[in-house]
Amino acid sequence: MKLIASKFLVKGLFAVAVTFVGSSLVLGETIAVIGTGNVGGALGPRFATLGHNIIYGSREPDRQDVQALVTKTGHNATAMLPAAAAAEADIVVMATKWAQAEVALKSLGDLAGKIILDPNNAVRVDSSGKRHHDVETSAGQMIQNWVPNAMVVKAFNTLAAGTMANPASAGGPVTIPIAGNNPDAKATISSLITGIGFEVVDMGNISASQVLEKMLVERGNANITFNYYFRPVPQ
Ligand SMILES: NC(=O)c1ccc[n+]([C@@H]2O[C@H](COP(=O)([O-])OP(=O)(O)OC[C@H]3O[C@@H](n4cnc5c(N)ncnc54)[C@H](OP(=O)(O)O)[C@@H]3O)[C@@H](O)[C@H]2O)c1
Repeated sequence: MKLIASKFLVKGLFAVAVTFVGSSLVLGETIAVIGTGNVGGALGPRFATLGHNIIYGSREPDRQDVQALVTKTGHNATAMLPAAAAAEADIVVMATKWAQAEVALKSLGDLAGKIILDPNNAVRVDSSGKRHHDVETSAGQMIQNWVPNAMVVKAFNTLAAGTMANPASAGGPVTIPIAGNNPDAKATISSLITGIGFEVVDMGNISASQVLEKMLVERGNANITFNYYFRPVPQ
């Protein structure tokens, strides 16, 4: 069963200053999607439909499933080794598993001035199946610390990859909450989010990733599957 839930109905969340943001259209960006699994394979084809140039960064760019993803993505998408993909791009989607994120990120070379889209969740599942936020701060803050000259924007971590690939499957509007320190980077990522059919809300600077990542944990531990939809307070 799917339920569109206000974040304010979900237990254990915090009071956060929430700002709804508009979108500014960005066309023809080169986007490196590092990792060709669930998230990379969902977002890459969607961003390509907006007219962006998608380069998958894969450890094995010639692998059959990676080439199948390139073909599925179309729009002149390509695949190459992760560092080569990142070097070509202004926006880098870090879609590796969290356990691999630091090694993968630090293998990408100089990321100064690039926008890093971070969908990661640092989740530990205990023996009873309960999910826990497994870092002291957040994956978003740790990634920003690893690449201080890049502009990290937390986004998409609260959403299942299947819904990223097919927003209509949610059965109604879905909000993607984002966080990051650079307003221009957040505006660019907001354009991508709204472009592929989701609403966006700016939760604040990168430290708000702690809230966003705990939202994912709460979603995973709930008895029902739900998506987040934030309804703005009437002005
Ligand atoms: N799955 C979801 O529904 C979902 C939703 C929201 C957020 N997230 C988060 O998004 C992140 C990615 O999850 P996922 O489900 O997409 O993972 P996944 O399906 O396991 O894909 C991860 C990809 O990372 C690449 N990779 C692995 N090691 C690498 C390395 N050392 N350097 C470069 N690339 C490497 C691999 O691609 P190659 O083999 O081609 O290199 C692999 O396909 C996680 O932090 C997860 O918590 C997941």
